Amino acid sequence: MAFSETEKLPAPEHIAIIMDGNGRWAKNRGLPRTAGHKAGGEAFRRIANYCRTLGVKYLTVYAFSTENWKRSQEEVAGIMKLLARYLEEALRDMEKNAVTFRFFGDLSRLSPELRKLCREAEERSSQYHEVQVNFCLNYGGRDEIVHAAKAFAADVVEGKRQPEELTEELLSSYLYSADVPDPELIIRPSGEKRISNFLLWQSAYSEFVFMNVLWPDFGPADLDEAIAEYHRRNRRFGGV
Ligand code: FPP
Repeated sequence: MAFSETEKLPAPEHIAIIMDGNGRWAKNRGLPRTAGHKAGGEAFRRIANYCRTLGVKYLTVYAFSTENWKRSQEEVAGIMKLLARYLEEALRDMEKNAVTFRFFGDLSRLSPELRKLCREAEERSSQYHEVQVNFCLNYGGRDEIVHAAKAFAADVVEGKRQPEELTEELLSSYLYSADVPDPELIIRPSGEKRISNFLLWQSAYSEFVFMNVLWPDFGPADLDEAIAEYHRRNRRFGGV
């Protein structure tokens, strides 16, 4: 565990965030929902930078769920455009920032341009081992488990695996999050208290912190507060 500069509290190794409340933030200001997502993207940059100063090793963010396609075409296109701009910028600054990027989700439904950016970011950044950002894109926790089960079944059909071999650890290796430790802390801002199909398998022992602030307003002080709350919890992992 690394120590936070300001609070001197050890930061969790892996923090996951449901970036919720962009729409309400925009509505409160009489702005279109896409303006809320733009501000949400800025909040993400702020928090990703702050996580680095705290020594957080993995930051996983819910950027687009398998259910988010139900939104208007304009809103979906707006979010995709923000992600594309961000990845173009990340590719440009890759050497300077040395951030590893991973994408959790079924990328096959994304536009070929965005898919290419994701692939390029993942490939080019795999040489770094400092900080890792996992973007959940067209991601659903149930979908991830189904995807893993299909991949395992295909290996059984091909004779590479035996059904009896399947363990929790082996199934984990078929998930999008293979090789990434489970998050110790999951934060959901905006006042909603749901998991919404996020990291269903990986959150088995995570601490959940729900906060009232809307994501675009979320800043370093809010992250400090979530980490302080995490430290007040008594994690027993099913023991006594
Ligand atoms: C949930 O808030 C947010 C999303 C579905 C999109 C999240 C996307 C971003 C923060 C932008 C991504 C870009 C970068 C660069 C990371 P909501 O729209 O459901 O809010 P509401 O509940 O108030 O309507």
